[in-house]
Amino acid sequence: TKLDMEMAAIEKGGYDHFMLKEIFEQPNTIFDCLRGRLDATGGTITMSGIQKYADQLTTANRIIMIACGTSWHAGLVAEYIFEEVTRIPVEVEYASEFRYRNPIINKGDVIIAISQSGETADTLVAIETAKEKGAIILGVVNVVGSSIARASHGGAYTHAGPEIGVASTKAFTAQLAVLTMIALKIGYIKGTLTEKRYMHLLNELNDVPEKVATALMQKDKIREIASKYKNASDSLYLGRGYNFPVALEGALKLKEISYIHAEGYPAAEMKHGPIALVDEKLPVFFVATKDSFHEKVLSNMQEIKARKGKVIAVVSEGDDAASALADDTITVPYADELIAPMINVIPMQLLAYYIGVSKGYDVDKPRNLAKSVTVE
Ligand code: G6P
Repeated sequence: TKLDMEMAAIEKGGYDHFMLKEIFEQPNTIFDCLRGRLDATGGTITMSGIQKYADQLTTANRIIMIACGTSWHAGLVAEYIFEEVTRIPVEVEYASEFRYRNPIINKGDVIIAISQSGETADTLVAIETAKEKGAIILGVVNVVGSSIARASHGGAYTHAGPEIGVASTKAFTAQLAVLTMIALKIGYIKGTLTEKRYMHLLNELNDVPEKVATALMQKDKIREIASKYKNASDSLYLGRGYNFPVALEGALKLKEISYIHAEGYPAAEMKHGPIALVDEKLPVFFVATKDSFHEKVLSNMQEIKARKGKVIAVVSEGDDAASALADDTITVPYADELIAPMINVIPMQLLAYYIGVSKGYDVDKPRNLAKSVTVE
């Protein structure tokens, strides 16, 4: 009805789609997620639902992240962060694979379940299975009071507000903010993170909302790039280290929203297969911001160029060397490599959005996909 349409328009707050509104909400949702928890000046992180299990986390033999879809990508980023700052081995599991294979759970294992909806059936059953075997379950969940939140012993909400667009955006960055806070807290308590590095990372985290707002200002440039590549039939997304999961998430967003086949790969692993696909028609998206792998990523970009692939790169502001290797560049503010995924994913989300819209697709409700998958 006309009323329904008017209501929907009001809910979208002036944006054409929920997905775009939710992408643009991220400076606020990340801020809300950090608020009351992170005190960068005082050097503290307060999370009551984690505090209760701080002993189990600091002495954990292993942490297992369990999730599906975009939340699984958040788990992958968290693996890199946790291992670096806490030195605890981390495994990241697709809930559907974990639950069906009689998983090994030992004393001293901590499970972190990551879910926007808190209702994904595979994730829920996976944690129930692990709980029966005696594991501590911590939930990183967006929807308050959801099944996964209730089935967890403790955890932390992401406070991103309702996410309506089927393709997850603001929930992902909020998940990363929460997971990073947990990792920094545990690393600091354990002493695997120096005071200096801890303080530096707290400040970097505090700056994320502002840097995300700056990244969003590239929207017109990203829309232009989108119109240039919207007719591609296939694409590759590449990154290394902390940016490898960002590449996977970029590829997933494009598939979901624009129905263009996209493969995410570790940039180095590309030589073992995907490089065979490269020709003058193939867009290759690089997440190539400055980090400890930067020189290596630049040489991967050269390898694509040498085979006449189109290189589109997300680079740090002022990085002329990286820009020179790309056909198109999108700049983002520099951030410490542990923190950068929250900023670098923004252009990936916008790119998928603008390609989907330019093809006339219903980006809020992509075909065949559901917001929460409650079937097993
Ligand atoms: C579905 C949604 C994705 C989401 C995934 C996991 O596939 O379309 O956007 O990432 O489920 O959902 P969850 O609610 O558990 O994070």
